[in-house]
Amino acid sequence: PSPLNPSATLSDSYSETVDLADIEWDNLGFGLQPTDYMYIMKCARGGTFSKGELQRFGNIELNPSAGILNYGQGLFEGLKAYRKQDGNILLFRPEENGLRMQVGAERMCMPSPTVEQFVEAVKDTVLANKRWVPPPGKGSLYIRPLLMGSGPVLGLAPSPEYTFLIYVSPVGNYFKEGLAPINLIVENELHRATPGGTGGVKTIGNYAAVLKAQSEAKAKGYSDVLYLDCVHKRYLEEVSSCNIFVVKGNVISTPAIKGTILPGITRKSIIDVARSQGFQVEERFVSVDELLDADEVFCTGTAVVVSPVGSITYLGKRVSYGDGIGVVSQQLYTVLTRLQMGLSADEMNWTVEL
Ligand code: COI
Repeated sequence: PSPLNPSATLSDSYSETVDLADIEWDNLGFGLQPTDYMYIMKCARGGTFSKGELQRFGNIELNPSAGILNYGQGLFEGLKAYRKQDGNILLFRPEENGLRMQVGAERMCMPSPTVEQFVEAVKDTVLANKRWVPPPGKGSLYIRPLLMGSGPVLGLAPSPEYTFLIYVSPVGNYFKEGLAPINLIVENELHRATPGGTGGVKTIGNYAAVLKAQSEAKAKGYSDVLYLDCVHKRYLEEVSSCNIFVVKGNVISTPAIKGTILPGITRKSIIDVARSQGFQVEERFVSVDELLDADEVFCTGTAVVVSPVGSITYLGKRVSYGDGIGVVSQQLYTVLTRLQMGLSADEMNWTVEL
């Protein structure tokens, strides 16, 4: 097993006892693998969501003037299901995603499923697609809930109808580097979010807005982009798809949640895990200068899990953090993923077994 993958051994008899989809489970990346079912629930503007249903996974029909297509009235979530050694399935903190969707829906003028409806819909969707949950050590089932203005609007206004939809896909590592350290470039011109804007919620437009800088960075060989605050151009915000942490001695610092960065559930979990491991964690303004004398830097997110950073380039200068994964990143990754995979006792009460 790789040092980063605590459960990379798969018993030969495993696929005989658990019904698995017939795909190549080794070397899954982060791409869409169509699965069997998706969940759909609709509601009118001013109404409440009541009853959803599972449908075969496939294309959906939208009016060309749907709010989501014309004005970006939409949110998404991301969470994962892991298969345990005994074949059962674990969700990680699904109610946190349900709560975050409610906060985002309020900002985007949309009705939202209750947390209970959200969690039940996630459970139903995962169980309907359970043959797509990878075997232990091979990856996870990525769960993508969407909330969108699906009704027609022409003038700028909240959509008259909303659709909550969940689809899933088995995934492996997010970055093409796998679990090897990634190389980031600090973006000095374009910004991801502004004070008073929507950077703190998971609205779809936040992700379209980072594609230009991300594409340019990738063309230059970087893995992704690290954003700075748009007022001072000095304080770290987040990477396109994940939060950032800086390690110096026993202190781990991460940008505070203040409306311009996404309140990541992995971010929040890693803060608790790090404190439980004896680290001091500070949520505060973290200056870009602090990258110069950090011991380690790592990113967190549902998709990226805990991703070590090997180097960061800022205004043409490159700071390196060594070739391999840092000891602190490794320790936090191992504690978190063992818990998520059901390999250690869930003292935090974070997992939900299906
Ligand atoms: C996640 O980590 O689940 C996200 O939503 C980020 C996404 C860009 C893959």
